[in-house]
Formats: sequence, C-alpha cells, structure tokens
Amino acid sequence: MVTLVQSRRLAARDAESIRRHLRIELEHRRAELGYWIGRPWWGNGFATEAARAVVGQAFAGLGLARVFAHHFVSNPASGRVMQKIGMRQEGVLRRHVIKWGRCEDLVVYGILPDDVTP
Ligand SMILES: CC(C)(COP(=O)(O)OP(=O)(O)OC[C@H]1O[C@@H](n2cnc3c(N)ncnc32)[C@H](O)[C@@H]1OP(=O)(O)O)[C@@H](O)C(=O)NCCC(=O)NCCS
Repeated sequence: MVTLVQSRRLAARDAESIRRHLRIELEHRRAELGYWIGRPWWGNGFATEAARAVVGQAFAGLGLARVFAHHFVSNPASGRVMQKIGMRQEGVLRRHVIKWGRCEDLVVYGILPDDVTP
C-alpha cells in the first residue's frame, strides 16, 4: 500500500527502495511500474504522486531509458494515473490475461525521459 506519507518519502528514497515499485530490467535499461492503493485512500491523488516520483527516480536517479506499465481495460482509474504522469498509450494486448475466469485485455503505456513534463 502506498499512503500519502509513504509516497512523499519515495521522492527522497534511494534507488534500492525504488526497486520495490519498479521491476527493473537493466540489460534493456527499462522498468515496469506497478502500484496499488488501499481502497479507503482511493481518489486522493496518492497513486499519481507516487508514480510520478518513481518515474522521476527511474530516469534521473537510475538512468533508465524507458518505464512501462499496463492496466486492465476494466480498470480505467489506473490508466488515468498513467496518463496524468505523462505516459503514452502504446497498444492493447487483447485477451492477454485470464482473471477470475475471464479473458481480459491489457492496455500498455510507456514513458521515455523526453516525455516527462515538470
Ligand atoms: C488504480 C489505483 C492505483 C488508483 O489510485 P488512486 O490513488 O485512487 O489514484 P489517483 O487519485 O492518483 O488518480 C485516480 C484518477 O482516476 C480517475 N478515476 C477514478 N475512477 C475512474 C473510472 N472509473 N474511470 C476513469 N477514471 C477514473 C480519478 O478521477 C483520478 O483522475 P483525475 O485526477 O483526473 O480526476 C487504485 O484504485 C488501486 O490501487 N486499485 C487496485 C490495484 C490496481 O488496480 N493497481 C493498478 C494495476 S495496473
């Protein structure tokens, strides 16, 4: 869970801590971003704040070339977080995952250092 306090700390944390939120593939200089917020705290901007901080560290702190993420089509709030931090939709993987017995489409987003806006 990422709370406001924790997400604010993220910006100041070192690269070792950031790895808990990024699955880093150094050979490709890329990382996959993931986040989860406890339901009582939804809608407060916490995921956006934390995701922005982690992406900032991925580029400025770790020197990565790309961060990507995906969300279920059925989870538009997660996609909205990706859009708000400047990630671009790159495609849809149709029926890519089976979740609770149902085939789900995955929307893929990516961001490069040049895409980051202050
Ligand atoms: C998705 C999740 C991370 C969002 O966390 P959060 O802290 O509530 O996100 P934020 O408050 O930063 O931003 C949410 C945005 O989604 C929008 N949103 C919420 N429900 C929405 C919906 N049904 N459709 C479209 N947008 C929606 C909000 O309005 C907000 O955008 P805005 O600031 O432009 O109004 C959180 O709901 C969660 O942890 N869900 C369960 C795990 C999960 O889905 N993880 C992501 C896997 S990819």
